[in-house]
Amino acid sequence: MTRTIIALDFPTGAEALELLDRFDEPVYAKIGMELFYSEGPAIVKAVKERGHEIFLDLKLHDIPNTVKSAMKQLAALDVDMVNVHAAGGKKMMEAAIEGLKEGSEGRGKRPLCIAVTQLTSTSQEMLNQEIRIPGNIADVAEQYARLARKAGLDGVVCSVLEAKKIHRSTGENFLTVTPGIRPSGTSKDDQARVATPKYAKLQGCDFIVVGRPITRAEDPVAAYKAIKEELK
Ligand code: C5P
Repeated sequence: MTRTIIALDFPTGAEALELLDRFDEPVYAKIGMELFYSEGPAIVKAVKERGHEIFLDLKLHDIPNTVKSAMKQLAALDVDMVNVHAAGGKKMMEAAIEGLKEGSEGRGKRPLCIAVTQLTSTSQEMLNQEIRIPGNIADVAEQYARLARKAGLDGVVCSVLEAKKIHRSTGENFLTVTPGIRPSGTSKDDQARVATPKYAKLQGCDFIVVGRPITRAEDPVAAYKAIKEELK
């Protein structure tokens, strides 16, 4: 099953909640750095109180001990999914899982933890010349996905175009969370490589992350429902 995550890319909690309050069903919402840094844990609590699931997209990347302690705090917020940069290495990712487990004690399950392999803003040239990582960017992303799997993570953020390859090398149970989704007929905005919800489903993506095609639609609820219908 492919599920939709709505990216709440808003500067204020009021705008995010105004959007959510139009929905008459629980949704999966993504809270990113902009909203979390402006509103803090209060916005997580407010979205949870309304019965929605949360992907807290803060992309942690620090020494293992710091990531572990930070994840313990995030798990205590009772979010459903968090993420790290795989570039922090296996020990850091293992520490993230330890922190999540500790912070979820007594709750029965910990938040899912997924890894960012390479940012979609990183080009082949940047990877090799600036960051000084040799090799082809798609192969590096796949290697990072395998490392994340070894560290015990639950999945990766990747492009729809990489999802099949990643599932082939990491297994079907390893989650692929894919942004860059545009229903046919909608604007690409600043996304370079986009795919429709239906194509994402055909590629086996577990979650699609959709922002502006829903949040900036004239009728966000209708836009969301049309995507859900396309995924059936
Ligand atoms: O509005 P749009 O659908 O383009 O939003 C996509 C969301 O997914 C944004 O929150 C963006 O930051 C996030 N994202 C992305 N590409 C990545 C990782 C995250 O577009 N590689």
